[in-house]
Amino acid sequence: MVEDKILTISGIGKSFGGLHILKNISLEVEKGERIGIIGPNGAGKTTFFNLLTGDLEPSFGEIYYGKANISKQPNYKRARNGIVRTFQKNNLLNELSVIDNLLLVLQRKNGIGHVWFKQRGAKQYRDLYTKADELLEKWGLFHQRNAIVKNLSYGEQRQIEILLGVATEPTILLLDEPTAGMSQSETNHIVDLLYKLPKDLTVMIIEHDLEIVFGLADRMIVLFEGEILIDGPPEVVKKDEKVNKIYIGSGDEVKC
Ligand SMILES: Nc1ncnc2c1ncn2[C@@H]1O[C@H](COP(=O)(O)OP(=O)(O)O)[C@@H](O)[C@H]1O
Ligand SMILES: [Mg+2]
Repeated sequence: MVEDKILTISGIGKSFGGLHILKNISLEVEKGERIGIIGPNGAGKTTFFNLLTGDLEPSFGEIYYGKANISKQPNYKRARNGIVRTFQKNNLLNELSVIDNLLLVLQRKNGIGHVWFKQRGAKQYRDLYTKADELLEKWGLFHQRNAIVKNLSYGEQRQIEILLGVATEPTILLLDEPTAGMSQSETNHIVDLLYKLPKDLTVMIIEHDLEIVFGLADRMIVLFEGEILIDGPPEVVKKDEKVNKIYIGSGDEVKC
């Protein structure tokens, strides 16, 4: 296996009952790639993410994270090792402020999850706050520092979720339809955030808005009926006849 492949997916699939939802998916992912995943509803995109995160076990095939076979590794271990997803469910603690949510994530990341604040030294306490404030500043969310999560709009909460995901300093970030259900201005904020993600972070993004995903991705994968229809550079995928048939029912280019 080549050293620089962060992820090697070898013939994975998932069946529910007798139904083959995902069939024989193989791909290799390099560090820092921005992979857009599109396909009609029910194509198997979210199921694919579930296999990558360990929320579902593959029915067949193997997943390697670097050289380690993680096919059967539980989700919490994969998350701890850097494979992080957002938008599967609301991961925020709604009754707490944004800064407190962030402090909890940073605290866990530093391996001190079971130690209460008051038991730690003043310096360690201050360092966590400094780090949290830096992150809020960097991601343009400082104005929401003291807001209680439940009082934020849906779009604002999704932004905080991305921030919490990034705060764990993942190696691979999986985003499942990050702009779904958002207003135009909320969508714009999310897209701004996505463009600010560190360059060495590997990002896989499922997104129904073709303009957004073709703009962000340096590689596009189209899933169709549980299989990879095409995997290639955006400019190639955009012009692909099969892809255009799926999207607009004609041989024309994807309009974006
Ligand atoms: N836990 C499950 N049990 C049975 N069928 C499922 C389950 N999860 C997903 N499916 C089915 O698998 C197919 C693909 O779903 P999904 O991966 O959510 O598609 P997408 O995200 O591309 O819209 C759908 O037909 C869906 O109904
Ligand atoms: Mg889905």
